[in-house]
Amino acid sequence: MRLKDKIAIVTGAAAGMGASTARIFAREGAKVFIADLNEKAGTALARDIGGSAAFAHLDVTKEDDWAKLRDAAVTAHGRIDILINNAGVSGSDPDVLSMATWDQQMNVNAKGVFLGLRTIIPVMQKNKAGSIVNISSISGIAGQAFVHMGYNAAKGAVRMMTKATAVQFAKDGIRCNSVHPGLMPAMQTSRMSADPDVRAKMLRAVPMRREGRVEEVANANLFLASDEASYITGTELVVDGGFLAQ
Ligand SMILES: NC(=O)c1ccc[n+]([C@@H]2O[C@H](COP(=O)([O-])OP(=O)(O)OC[C@H]3O[C@@H](n4cnc5c(N)ncnc54)[C@H](O)[C@@H]3O)[C@@H](O)[C@H]2O)c1
Repeated sequence: MRLKDKIAIVTGAAAGMGASTARIFAREGAKVFIADLNEKAGTALARDIGGSAAFAHLDVTKEDDWAKLRDAAVTAHGRIDILINNAGVSGSDPDVLSMATWDQQMNVNAKGVFLGLRTIIPVMQKNKAGSIVNISSISGIAGQAFVHMGYNAAKGAVRMMTKATAVQFAKDGIRCNSVHPGLMPAMQTSRMSADPDVRAKMLRAVPMRREGRVEEVANANLFLASDEASYITGTELVVDGGFLAQ
């Protein structure tokens, strides 16, 4: 088992890539906190996984929620080994200059990740160990026609917070890397990118000519979270079917 007895928090784990990550981490021996706004789907997933998973209510934009989650994990297990900052909202928006979308992107996709780092890093420092994976996007590296620039800016911020964390906390045994999915199953909050015509256009830009499967990102998370990646920090793993290689 690749994560035997590790204590892991996966945010946004009630659906999509977070849910797949939670399942795979539990299969590999971790105790997993499924941290999400969506209590119904999160508790159902925890029940399905069994004793090694627990649901925890978390709105990533609320510092109090983060503190409660940290306290619950430390009370139950005494430490936190892995943090996967995966929760996010879609940036597909027909109004690419919307102010409301900019604010939402900064709040959830950028500040939500910073609050996770701010709350959980001190716990990892005490234990002199930890692995953090921040889920960015190819949108954190390149712009796209249908994506609000707030999403690019927030995912770019996630990419750079990763590098700052790696440099600042390596001395405490903490590693931090970012994962950059490409065209994946549409997010629950997606507007345009769920449209079949838009998806067909986007697919033409993917050399593998298919969207990614959630477990293909979850397996990247697994590698980076595990001790197999013990000398890997501050880097970015792109999971995009060759989009950025063109
Ligand atoms: N799907 C894609 O095409 C794609 C591509 C690149 C990157 N990403 C990124 O991958 C991550 C996961 O995406 P997904 O496709 O699995 O999305 P999804 O919509 O399927 O799932 C997102 C989960 O995050 C939760 N969430 C949303 N806001 C939250 C908040 N404020 N606090 C706590 N939980 C919250 C939702 O309840 C949901 O369970 C996101 O960060 C997303 O930006 C997605």
